[in-house]
Amino acid sequence: MAPAVNSLLLACFAGSALGASIAQRAPLPIADTLFVNGIIHTLDSGSTTINGGALAITNGTITCVGEEEDCKSAVGASTKVVDLNGKVMIPGLIDTHVHPFDAGRAMLGCTLRYRQLTQEALRKIIQDCLDSQPGETGMLTVTEFDREGFTSINGPGNKAMLDSLKTTRPITIIATNQHNVFVNSRTLQLLNITRNTPDPQGGIIGRDANGEPTGFLEENASGPARALGGDRGIPQLNAGIAALSQLRRRGVTTILDALQAPHDAWTTLKQRGDLTARVFTCFGVFGSTDFPTIVSQALAAKNQLDESTLVANAPGQHWRNVKFFIDGVLPEVSEASLLLEPYLVDNGNGTWVPGKNFGIPNANQSQIQEIITRTLDAGLGIHLHASGDAAVRTVLNVAAAMNRHFQPSEIGIAHAELVAIEDRTRFAELGIPIIASYQWAQKATYGADKNALTLGPERMSRLQAHGTLNNAGALLAYGSDWPVDPLDPFLALAIGVLRKGDPQNRNAHASFGPQFVGRLDDQPALSREVALRGMTIFAATYLNSTSSIGSLEVGKFADIVVIDRDYLDEKAVPDDELARNKVLLTMIGGKAVFADNSTSFIPTEWLAESNRLDSDPVVKSLKPGNILARSLTGRTCGSANHRH
Ligand SMILES: *[C@@H]1O[C@H](CO)[C@@H](O)[C@H](O)[C@H]1NC(C)=O
Ligand SMILES: *[C@@H]1O[C@H](CO)[C@@H](O)[C@H](O)[C@H]1NC(C)=O
Ligand SMILES: *[C@@H]1O[C@H](CO)[C@@H](O)[C@H](O)[C@H]1NC(C)=O
Ligand SMILES: *[C@@H]1O[C@H](CO)[C@@H](O)[C@H](O)[C@H]1NC(C)=O
Ligand SMILES: *[C@@H]1O[C@H](CO)[C@@H](O)[C@H](O)[C@H]1NC(C)=O
Ligand SMILES: *[C@@H]1O[C@H](CO)[C@@H](O)[C@H](O)[C@H]1NC(C)=O
Ligand SMILES: *[C@@H]1O[C@H](CO)[C@@H](O)[C@H](O)[C@H]1NC(C)=O
Ligand SMILES: [Zn+2]
Repeated sequence: MAPAVNSLLLACFAGSALGASIAQRAPLPIADTLFVNGIIHTLDSGSTTINGGALAITNGTITCVGEEEDCKSAVGASTKVVDLNGKVMIPGLIDTHVHPFDAGRAMLGCTLRYRQLTQEALRKIIQDCLDSQPGETGMLTVTEFDREGFTSINGPGNKAMLDSLKTTRPITIIATNQHNVFVNSRTLQLLNITRNTPDPQGGIIGRDANGEPTGFLEENASGPARALGGDRGIPQLNAGIAALSQLRRRGVTTILDALQAPHDAWTTLKQRGDLTARVFTCFGVFGSTDFPTIVSQALAAKNQLDESTLVANAPGQHWRNVKFFIDGVLPEVSEASLLLEPYLVDNGNGTWVPGKNFGIPNANQSQIQEIITRTLDAGLGIHLHASGDAAVRTVLNVAAAMNRHFQPSEIGIAHAELVAIEDRTRFAELGIPIIASYQWAQKATYGADKNALTLGPERMSRLQAHGTLNNAGALLAYGSDWPVDPLDPFLALAIGVLRKGDPQNRNAHASFGPQFVGRLDDQPALSREVALRGMTIFAATYLNSTSSIGSLEVGKFADIVVIDRDYLDEKAVPDDELARNKVLLTMIGGKAVFADNSTSFIPTEWLAESNRLDSDPVVKSLKPGNILARSLTGRTCGSANHRH
């Protein structure tokens, strides 16, 4: 860290050391585990860093954090003393917007792995999937389609590109952003979609110049194709097991599932002792505007499944939120985020001028008022997808009209990709947090070419304004939105801090080619510490759980991650290497759930437990390329032997 910050940390640490010495007067309980000799970043309010630090855990809870001297009286005959050997300890990561079952199904099914593909490469992957399931006649659902990247190199897609595949099966390809699908003629036929079918409310059936459906179904028009594919032959439980295996490996100990109906997968895993994350869930129904039903079903889910309190050594599930979509997604192929000024169109001579489209609304202001009021009256929190500046402003206006300051867990705005300058301070004024996906502030296929031209330079310069919004007082909690992107928290942290990807990290668009290397724009970024707080204590604040999780403090749960190098120290980890931190150990409630087996400090029992969890047949069936999602190259060129 910079010298100035360092002295601030030392000053704060002096205060906390005093606290520790007071606490020392009471005898410490005997610890199950005592870590020693680590660099501990507590992420408490004082930003305490302890070099050569110790941390004691008794029955899943932290009972001492401090110098080795402070904690040594916690050692008893049964205490496991673990020498961290200078490794770095931070709180378990919290991801407040993620889709674990979509991610699990993507890893277990047919996936395009986020690659920017030519038509030929796209067809080859899908044909291989078809050929691997002889005799199958139902829908083939394909995931992780980089539609923007595909469009940049192939032009607008068309169902004919899929109809030439050797199959009679219906095919649905889900775009990475999850808001639109690309289907073949057989799927259109099964959905009874013809040139005469009107667009559903809140959705668009893509059509070519002759009015013929192209096979692209936007937003609310995409639901029926997904429904037809059902669970893709992948049981909910298996999808959950697959997702958890990656979350623990990446240091994520608590998640908020951003859209889900009741299910028993977490209950089953908890009974087995295999629930390796604390799981919060937003109840929601994509496309539905039947608010009384949504809220009553959310309450029923809460009554049935919510565990009222968080328990240190027994991670559980919590159903306290409702999800609603205010608008759609930004890219030019969709133009579905709600904007204050219209998307730009090419006037025919290469000049981009305001067109007529402001985006696709899912609700008007009075409906938004109704869903927010009903949800809060029911004692639930509302998690709102609002991407464009008009969607964000409408939510802020509705909240302002309620004439009160909100608790952070009451109204959360997810994404807020574009925010009007005059709205920036309103989040803090109203008490409304932003759930931000830091990794969207990288140069990427979805921000290139026409995606930039339809927004225009002024709006492009304000996109993903995480640093600016933080500076305006907004509370930013991190949400990966996995599987919209590969799950890679340290890449996301790096992009939050640098506003650029890492060409050496295959999950970064910078690995696709020189066009995506370098800083996105000149906007202020987040500091390393604020970015990490967004994944720890700020995220816990959004989940109203700071008494249990989010920092390493006495009395809180031992949800802990040990990483190889000091993410917060600019000397130990220069900016260009920030995306390459490695998780060595993940603990939840004092129990190891992931251990890197190349690490010498980890006790063999913990490695054995990590291996036991990963020996689940579902985890073993994951194809490596589907996990760290991109395969060797980001872009496949037309020429087979030319790789970027
Ligand atoms: C350990 O914690 C659990 C759950 O928090 C609690 O039920 C149990 O009584 C505790 N055990 C001891 C020995 O304190
Ligand atoms: C399509 O139309 C057929 C015949 O009218 C009907 O049986 C079927 O349910 C329709 N499918 C959908 C998805 O609407
Ligand atoms: C989505 O479409 C369905 C009909 O297909 C309609 O009932 C629903 O209101 C639409 N949702 C939105 C948000 O427009
Ligand atoms: C393009 O057309 C607009 C009118 O729509 C005109 O104002 C502008 O000068 C033209 N630009 C060029 C480069 O021809
Ligand atoms: C909002 O939409 C609902 C449902 O379509 C409609 O009944 C209502 O009149 C609309 N209200 C306003 C103010 O436009
Ligand atoms: C936050 O949690 C506390 C219990 O820890 C509860 O009393 C309070 O009502 C919660 N706040 C909200 C807004 O749900
Ligand atoms: C460590 O894990 C890797 C990958 O899971 C595995 O191939 C290897 O056999 C393991 N090594 C040990 C010593 O357990
Ligand atoms: Zn999402």
